[in-house]
Amino acid sequence: MQELFVEGGRRLCGELTIQGSKNGVLPVLAATIVCAGECRVENCPRLRDVDASIAILRHLGCCTRWEGDALVVDTTHMDRAEVPDALMREMRSSVIFLGAILARQGEAALSYPGGCELGPRPIDVHLAALRALGAEIEERGGTLRCRSKVLTAAELVLPLPSVGATENAILAACGAAGTTVIYNAAREPEIAELQAFLNAMGAQVRGAGGSIVTVTGAAALHGGTHRVSADRIVEATYLCAAAGCGGDVRLRGVDCRELSTVTAALAEAGCTVESEGEWIALRSSGALRAVRPIRTAPYPGFPTDAQPALMAALLRSAGSTVFVENIFENRFRHVDELARLGADVRVAGRVAVVSGVAALRGAGVKCTDLRGGAALVLAGLQAEGVTRVSLLEHIDRGYERMEQDLTTLGASIERRA
Ligand code: UD1
Repeated sequence: MQELFVEGGRRLCGELTIQGSKNGVLPVLAATIVCAGECRVENCPRLRDVDASIAILRHLGCCTRWEGDALVVDTTHMDRAEVPDALMREMRSSVIFLGAILARQGEAALSYPGGCELGPRPIDVHLAALRALGAEIEERGGTLRCRSKVLTAAELVLPLPSVGATENAILAACGAAGTTVIYNAAREPEIAELQAFLNAMGAQVRGAGGSIVTVTGAAALHGGTHRVSADRIVEATYLCAAAGCGGDVRLRGVDCRELSTVTAALAEAGCTVESEGEWIALRSSGALRAVRPIRTAPYPGFPTDAQPALMAALLRSAGSTVFVENIFENRFRHVDELARLGADVRVAGRVAVVSGVAALRGAGVKCTDLRGGAALVLAGLQAEGVTRVSLLEHIDRGYERMEQDLTTLGASIERRA
């Protein structure tokens, strides 16, 4: 079992280029199967969730190979339409393959994703969108069987702006004759990323980034090349790390506008944040103050994925900060582990109150989920002594080289078997 050994108390200084985006690349990899051809996905991060996507693509009959930082996917000979339960369980967001398989094969079978570490993960919005496009979906014994002789364009009104459902609807609509209109679409940058890739393959997707997305489908698509954008949540994590530890960092990758809610909170806490284009620079004395309530919300609101990292940054702040989690109900599971380091965080339902303590002390902690795990590392970086972080498979789902990146910034952190 691997563990991270984090020796706290160092300032973080230096420059980093941020890895490719997990949430950006996963729908792009699913989208490769909408065409029959060769796709090149550049700046593809090497992550457990990417490995899980590769396993699904191979099971479906696609060929994949790495060329440097590019993953090449040849979907020409895809000959299957079902994903076995074991592969579905590797990654909850594999449900995103549903719309893509349906668009390509006219049928799809996969197991229901069920709950995950963040709580129940319903897919009712995904299924309603696919049904509206003409798919017949049977749910039996934890398995979903979808069939559609022909998919037909439709006007879809999503009851909530689900990221995954918007992606699934766009992918399926690529196989539907006519123009599909998706109202109340998610506005996350990852939707615009999917749109860019699909259009590079010859699709006609418009409006991503706004609430109304149109897809004119059933065109013959060809292979395409796409460069994965930088991961805004990884960048937010490292900004929060430097904020909490104190330091002076300059991170390159993400369009700074995409992180405005996070950088605004860090500035309110007392950090100096400067940004221009793809650079964000942050200076922090390490002595932060509490901020006004943080309420997670769909983009462009405060990202739920950055909530644990900001919480970790404020563990030693002066005063109390309220966090209201509006997206996932189980998003405070890391709090019990933070308490082992001496943090004072009280949780009641969707609300957590962080009261700053004078000091944190190193201890053994276990990752509970991807972003919660990252928060434990951030807390360890601020703690006196050594923090041992275990169950790293959670962190490895989304961070390509967390310990190398933090070491580059001057942290003392080492992975041991
Ligand atoms: C994506 C991200 C995840 C991020 C989340 C919110 C990926 C791979 N994952 O997850 O990191 O935290 O967006 O920004 O991109 N819901 C329903 N019914 C549905 C679908 C969703 O009730 O059919 C609810 C969910 O339970 C949740 C909320 O809608 O409360 C948002 O979920 P959604 O936007 O779908 O998140 P994901 O796409 O799963």
